Amino acid sequence: MLNLEAFESLLKTSISGRSSNNELWDSIDSTNARLLALAKDGAKEGTVVFARAQSQGRGRQGRQWISPPDSGLYMSLLLRPEKPAAEIPAITLAVGVACAKAILATTGVRIGLKWVNDLVYQGKKLGGILAEMQMNSDRSAIVIGIGINISFDAALIPEELAHRIIWLDQAAGTACDTNALAAEICLQMEDAYNRMMQGDVKAILDEWRAYSVTLGQEIVASGTSKEFRGTAIDITESGALLVQTATGTEEIFGGEISIRTRDGSYC
Ligand code: BTN
Repeated sequence: MLNLEAFESLLKTSISGRSSNNELWDSIDSTNARLLALAKDGAKEGTVVFARAQSQGRGRQGRQWISPPDSGLYMSLLLRPEKPAAEIPAITLAVGVACAKAILATTGVRIGLKWVNDLVYQGKKLGGILAEMQMNSDRSAIVIGIGINISFDAALIPEELAHRIIWLDQAAGTACDTNALAAEICLQMEDAYNRMMQGDVKAILDEWRAYSVTLGQEIVASGTSKEFRGTAIDITESGALLVQTATGTEEIFGGEISIRTRDGSYC
């Protein structure tokens, strides 16, 4: 179970997770909302907010992130980059890489990354990332929200979700240490973020490619200005997905994609 002291004792970072104002809530509306508020009041880079449950966990595309008590890792981490957020668009891919490496290091489970930032295992969703920005007069703040399914009671999962989600204990075949995972995410995040700030975007993108379950797949992109159907061929330096369509190459910056499965359906 998440415990702030245990988490902090496992940290191997310089900044990430090192704030004396980290928080762990039994229950909160959203760790991202809480950290955005703390950022507005001047919270330091590296501050982390955890919750054991969220009543209004935020997902991408305005969706809710279902966050039952002690079933997942619900964490938000504050970055205060020197560059404007717009100049580091691939930061969200770096977070995916950091999560994939942290999960591998602490559980031995090799997950896949589905563009833009779904954490997947055997075609099912294991977690997701939601980065939210705040523009301040001095330095902008980026709140990195990470939700990872850890331990679910299969009997309590709604039928429509049952075949679409998976949790880490199930993937690993054993109970995972959430504190160790959170500390390792901080370490991998710090490493990826530092490399990105030093301009080493290419190496991060190569790591993302190695974990990708998207590239080479037939996809449909929705939630963009028009719907694209084609083959995902690469990602760009700005984190966009390059799609080969019947008429040419398109770059997708936002929205969502579905990947064609063997039976011809898209998920
Ligand atoms: C997604 O839709 O895939 C992104 C989900 C992100 C959920 C996490 S849980 C911790 C943090 N707080 C939130 O309200 N959302 C993120």
